[in-house]
Amino acid sequence: MRKGFTLWFTGLSGAGKSTLANHVAKALRERGLNVEILDGDEVRTNLSKGLGFSKEDRDTNIKRIGYVCKLLTRNGVVAISAAISPYKEIRDYNRQQIGQFVEVYVQCSIAALTKRDVKGLYQKALAGEIQHFTGVSDPYEPPTHPEIVVDSERQSEPDSLKAILDYLEREGWIPAVGAKAACCHH
Ligand code: ADX
Repeated sequence: MRKGFTLWFTGLSGAGKSTLANHVAKALRERGLNVEILDGDEVRTNLSKGLGFSKEDRDTNIKRIGYVCKLLTRNGVVAISAAISPYKEIRDYNRQQIGQFVEVYVQCSIAALTKRDVKGLYQKALAGEIQHFTGVSDPYEPPTHPEIVVDSERQSEPDSLKAILDYLEREGWIPAVGAKAACCHH
């Protein structure tokens, strides 16, 4: 069985975590790996239905996602988490629980996120219509030692995807493209 691992995205709402997670998942499936995505918005409609955005609820949400990632990881799956996960302590707790853990920090400034504002949430948060909004009126603690940093403001999406895949190949988490063919000519 191939060794599983957890690819843990963290970053502000709208930074591009889900989009990148989906692209990485597609690329890894094309290499024959089993992949599951735990996406923040989706998890909150099932696994974490009813939870809000207090520190306590966010911590519960992130620990639940971490627990599922642990189960998947130990069964050879690549588990991809794409939730804001604003608190360093809980991310580090998951890292320690899971062991096989690669953290990806998706960077983007509030200015750029407000300009994009795909869901219209930043306007509302800045106007005070949504309270405790991450990065505006609620904390976001950036990772201090992420394995990978991508910048969705300065990097194109394909470049960010490539940076992630290159890292995973280089560190031996995933087979290099073409490696399968090379190893199967007996
Ligand atoms: S986390 O903090 O618990 O990791 P999660 O990733 O699940 O957050 O959910 C974030 C999504 O919820 C955002 O992308 C946004 O669409 C929505 N949301 C609603 N209210 C808030 C808020 N106060 N802070 C951040 N995101 C919010």
